Amino acid sequence: MQTRNIAGRTVPAIGLGCMNLNHAYGNPPSAEEGERLLLTAFDAGVRLFDTAALYGFGRNEELVGRVLKTRRQDILLCSKGGMAPVQFPDGLKRVIDGRPEAIRRNCEDSLRRLGTDVIDLYYLHRWQKTVPIEDSVGALADLVRAGKVRTIGLSEVSAVTLRKAHAVHPIAAVQSEYSLWTRNAEIAVLQACADIGATYVAFSPVARGFLCGQPIDGSTLPASDLRSTMPRFLGEHLAANLRMQAAYNAIARDVGCTPAQLAIAWLLHKAPHIIPLPGTGKVDHLLEDLGAADVVLDSATMARLEATVNQRTVSGPRYAAQATAEVDTETF
Ligand SMILES: NC(=O)c1ccc[n+]([C@@H]2O[C@H](COP(=O)([O-])OP(=O)(O)OC[C@H]3O[C@@H](n4cnc5c(N)ncnc54)[C@H](OP(=O)(O)O)[C@@H]3O)[C@@H](O)[C@H]2O)c1
Repeated sequence: MQTRNIAGRTVPAIGLGCMNLNHAYGNPPSAEEGERLLLTAFDAGVRLFDTAALYGFGRNEELVGRVLKTRRQDILLCSKGGMAPVQFPDGLKRVIDGRPEAIRRNCEDSLRRLGTDVIDLYYLHRWQKTVPIEDSVGALADLVRAGKVRTIGLSEVSAVTLRKAHAVHPIAAVQSEYSLWTRNAEIAVLQACADIGATYVAFSPVARGFLCGQPIDGSTLPASDLRSTMPRFLGEHLAANLRMQAAYNAIARDVGCTPAQLAIAWLLHKAPHIIPLPGTGKVDHLLEDLGAADVVLDSATMARLEATVNQRTVSGPRYAAQATAEVDTETF
């Protein structure tokens, strides 16, 4: 597979988001299926594995740490803190807490669950806007100095926040949503990453399944599926997006690849500092997604794709109001 540089390492260009093995899109696979998926990914050449304290409220880190333990030296192990499970009287809840003491505690918990003494790339999962970014990044820098993490990154931040953070400690990577149907990064963050030498890790590269060829109606999904509240998968927005999807699928047919491969290949062609990070609970989808590395797109196809799926042809905001308020800014 073609390669990318990230966090001082060179890795195959497509990473694996592990969230889906415990969390996010309806019923997750069993632990055995999750184990098989991780081992298949490694055998197929994947080396960047992405997890977080939040995913499955810690169970995802436990799974990734246990299954990949004997391959620890060969992989780039990435996790995140600053948005983590916290125990309340009525159960565990997701809390965004960017204070240095919370970040230190999150990191210790992640190291224990992952069964490792160092995390290769550790992200601030969300910037808590009431805490200066310099304070949160200062805590991450302390973790680097203590040898608990090797490099640090940020998730869902604007270019302005990224540059402030980079002034405190080198930022190795930004992980935010980027795909044909979510282009916010093109406003400023992609360029800011290139300027400071950070890698851009593109999450939700197949648009949470929408660019995989089949219609997805959020109103038919269980409440545990994030897409059941996402505006683009619902009502009038969905109807408009399905029209766009039909035109997109036609391009995949003309190229001779699957729609999912087309979405990932587009990212690989956009810039050499981008790593697509798909997620799946299914081995056949994983192998299909990795096949995107072999898809070659000419400039006419890139232009046709971008004219078909862009901020004007995609209907609806990417998150519902509460989640939108939690990211740095939608205008970047
Ligand atoms: N930093 C953040 O705030 C943040 C937020 C979201 C995600 N992430 C990271 O990014 C990773 C990927 O995000 P994502 O899961 O939203 O990305 P995604 O790959 O765009 O979407 C995943 C969805 O697409 C489906 N899918 C994937 N490949 C497919 C294929 N070939 N054919 C049909 N369906 C396919 C999956 O279903 P199946 O399981 O059925 O294949 C799943 O429902 C996560 O695992 C996580 O590590 C980070």
